[in-house]
Parts: sequence; C-alpha cells; structure tokens
Amino acid sequence: MRRPDAVRNGGPILGIETSCDETAAAVVTREGEVLANVVASQAQLHDRYGGVVPEVASRRHLELVEPVLSDALTESGIDLDDIGAVAVTQGPGLVGALLIGLSAAKAIAWARGVAFVPVDHLHGHVASLYLQPQPLEPPFVCLLASGGHTLLLAVREPGGFDVLGTTLDDAAGEAFDKGARLLGLGYPGGAKLDRLAREGDANAFSFPVARVPGLDFSFSGLKTALLYAVRDLDEAELERRRTDLAASYQRAIVRALVERAREAREQTGFERLAVVGGVAANSELRASLPEAVFAPLELCTDNAAMIASAARHRAAVPYPEFLGLDVYASLS
Ligand code: KG4
Ligand code: ZN
Repeated sequence: MRRPDAVRNGGPILGIETSCDETAAAVVTREGEVLANVVASQAQLHDRYGGVVPEVASRRHLELVEPVLSDALTESGIDLDDIGAVAVTQGPGLVGALLIGLSAAKAIAWARGVAFVPVDHLHGHVASLYLQPQPLEPPFVCLLASGGHTLLLAVREPGGFDVLGTTLDDAAGEAFDKGARLLGLGYPGGAKLDRLAREGDANAFSFPVARVPGLDFSFSGLKTALLYAVRDLDEAELERRRTDLAASYQRAIVRALVERAREAREQTGFERLAVVGGVAANSELRASLPEAVFAPLELCTDNAAMIASAARHRAAVPYPEFLGLDVYASLS
C-alpha cells in the first residue's frame, strides 16, 4: 500500500471549494493549466429564502461533493492515482459548508497518500490571476470584491499579500445583493442587477458614495438610500423606474471601487492593478477600469481552479497533522 506521506510532487492538483453555496472541484497542473473546472451552484436552492441558508448549503454540499469531484476528474482525463496534491478551502466561509470540502480532501489525501494543502479562500481569489493562458505576476495592487469581502491588497509575491483597505460594513457583492433584493430581483442578485442596469440611466438618481478615511470602503449608507428611494415610489412608478434605480445604484458602487483602487495604486506606486472576486464580473466595473487586469469571467465567482492555483504557492501539511486541521469562519 502507498504510504500516506509518499507525495507525488509533480502531479496535478485536485482543488475543492465549498465555502459558501458553490460546490466546486478542479484539476490544475503545476504550471497553472486548468484541466477541469466544475462548479455546481446552489443559488436556485437558496433563492426562495432570499440568501444562503447555512444548514441547507451544508447538506447540499454533502450530496454534490462526490459527483462534482468525479466530473472534474473525468473532464480532466486524470486518474485519481496520478493526482499529486489535494488543495481545499479551509476558510473563511460557512463552517458547516467548509467542513464538507475539508473532510472530502482529508479522506482523499489520506487514502491516496497525496500532499494536503489547505488554502485560504481570499488567497484563492487572488490566485485566479496566476492561471494559464495569461498568468499575472506580482507585484500588483489587487481589488478583491466578492459577496463576503471587499479588500485592497498589495501583492508582492504569489504566496501572500498585505491588506491596504477593507470595508467597514457590507461587502460590495453584499451591497449588490441587497440592492437587487430591494428591486425584487431575487438571490444572488449581482449579475441580474448588472443586466437590468444596462437599460437604465445611471444619472437618474443621486446615491451617496461614503468617503471614509484611508483606503477603506463603506456601503451600508448606499443600501439605505436605495431603500428610501424605493419607498418613495408607488408600485407603478417603481416598476417604471427600476432600470434607472439599478443603473444609479450600480454606478455608486462601481465609482467607490474604482476611486479607491486607483488611489491604492497611486499610494503603493505599483504599476499594475488587478480585480478579482464575484463583483469583478460586473460589466460596468470592467468597463470603468480599462487599465486593470480582470480575472477571467469564469474564475471571478467561487471556483476550485483558483484554490488549486493558490496551492502551487503554499506548503503542504504533512500526514498525520493534516487530519487534525479545522476550518475557520472569518478572517483572522
Ligand atoms: O466571489 P463570490 O462568488 O463569493 C464570495 O466569495 O463571496 O462572489 C459572489 C458575489 C455575489 O454577491 C454576487 O451578487 C456578486 O458576486 N456578483 C456580481 C456579479 N456577478 C456576481 N455583482 C455584480 N455584478 C455581477 N455581474
Ligand atoms: Zn469567493
């Protein structure tokens, strides 16, 4: 029997991501080529609740993790015996959801004797930029805007980053989702609001962009402003002006992100600016920062290719220590 610590160092990395409501598995080579990237979204399941229900997410991950892993291996054409390492999101995220991925990864690493690499979800998002065919090399300033986080990072080497700024309240994706909910678009609403905004006038409503000191963000006031604007309109008027509300609201979020990202680049003196995370899929943000490198669309929202990518620059935890690892819910 193969020893659990007999690491096949050069083999591809099997990535697993279950931190929120996407069950994802991917196979990535050591050179950063994506051989398979399978994402099973639970969005529809949570739509009726208006947000992710943690216990429902955990149960669904449990059902999906095995078929998603099988699909990724089949798609990659790589046999489980030829995998060199298993990389998994350890946190931050929903504890019960993370535990499903972590347990699956431990089981595979132990049973197959392959290296085990725990990955921080945020490092994963940044590492979506390191994949082929156009890998980005540090140094760069990175705007990470997702449903859970809004961060400005100084990335000096592939294995790490320093935080330059963060949100003081809601994340940018959360602001999109809450706005979309107020406009009756369901969950998660970021992409739907993006589509609706294309038909509206972004100057129709004036929504405030909070100016907070340093390189931090604040989005909670914006959400309240939209709430009041919606309340002031009767049903027919609201229906008529929904596209304008969406466009104006999106403009305010995008403006805040663009301003701060440019300030961060100026302050650090870094030449390049990159944008990752679910909100990096936003069409107005992409158009408003023509100088920035954006993660490819399919790698903006949660996926396991980015987790496997991050594992290329992180140390494996040896057997048997990895069996004792736990997940973590929030940024330390
Ligand atoms: O990175 P991600 O998949 O999950 C977290 O790590 O949080 O980001 C999901 C977030 C959601 O809030 C979703 O509404 C937002 O990204 N999002 C968008 C767009 N596509 C996804 N927000 C604005 N415009 C989009 N096109
Ligand atoms: Zn994410």
